[in-house]
Amino acid sequence: MSEWFGTWFDSEYYHLLYKDRNYAEAEAFMAKLSDYLKPTKDQLVLDLACGKGRHSIQLNKLGVTVDGCDYSLNSINYAKKYENATLHFYTHDMRHPLPKRYAIILNLFTSFGYFDTDEEHFKTLQNIFNGLLPNGIFILDFMNVDVITKNLVSRETQTKEGIEFHIKREVDDNTIVKHIAFESEQEQWHYYKEKVAVLDYAKLTQMMKEIGFTIQDTFGDYMLHPFNINTSQRLILVLKK
Ligand SMILES: C[S@@+](CC[C@H](N)C(=O)[O-])C[C@H]1O[C@@H](n2cnc3c(N)ncnc32)[C@H](O)[C@@H]1O
Repeated sequence: MSEWFGTWFDSEYYHLLYKDRNYAEAEAFMAKLSDYLKPTKDQLVLDLACGKGRHSIQLNKLGVTVDGCDYSLNSINYAKKYENATLHFYTHDMRHPLPKRYAIILNLFTSFGYFDTDEEHFKTLQNIFNGLLPNGIFILDFMNVDVITKNLVSRETQTKEGIEFHIKREVDDNTIVKHIAFESEQEQWHYYKEKVAVLDYAKLTQMMKEIGFTIQDTFGDYMLHPFNINTSQRLILVLKK
């Protein structure tokens, strides 16, 4: 758990900083996505790197059978409160093979690109490919790095529930790095960083093809409008095994 993604995402402060990326956003996205994918009752869907399960919970409310898994024990413990006969959560490191086979695997809200090497990213995608049933679908919701790197806000302060988060962003060694510093109620200073590899459309689609995926669709936002490399904030790939 000593890697940055093991500590930061497991901390209460990550959830505080991102608290506005909430259930309402997840609800609208899942309504669109389930309408598009039309999963049947007997199909099992995995929300890989589900965090506290906001997408899993919303999708399950729409009648879909869902597993959610994540590296963060605190997030999974929280999500488990929402479990029912067709919704389950477990801890899992996506760098390792999946324990089950799924009809559909989702990886949402930039839950990819965290590792130090392209080999680890490639291995993770292979684990996803192997975790799919024949003809299975993988949805990767990543940032469109072409737009994001051009419009990077280098410094900003965001206040959430009385805590001032001082944020600095930079592109370093083909990685988007977000430095996050803040003082907690206990008057103690904290410092975390988020690192996401600059994986652009060309590189990601090349990796997917090498693994054996077919690209079925490419969307540019949560309302599933078509992807435009120059304007879209998101890069949402629909990949078929
Ligand atoms: C940006 S958050 C998104 C969480 C969730 N998908 C959402 O939209 O709320 C990224 C998630 O990836 C998880 N994560 C990071 N590294 C992981 C790994 N190696 N295996 C599985 N999950 C991981 C984090 O714990 C975190 O919950």
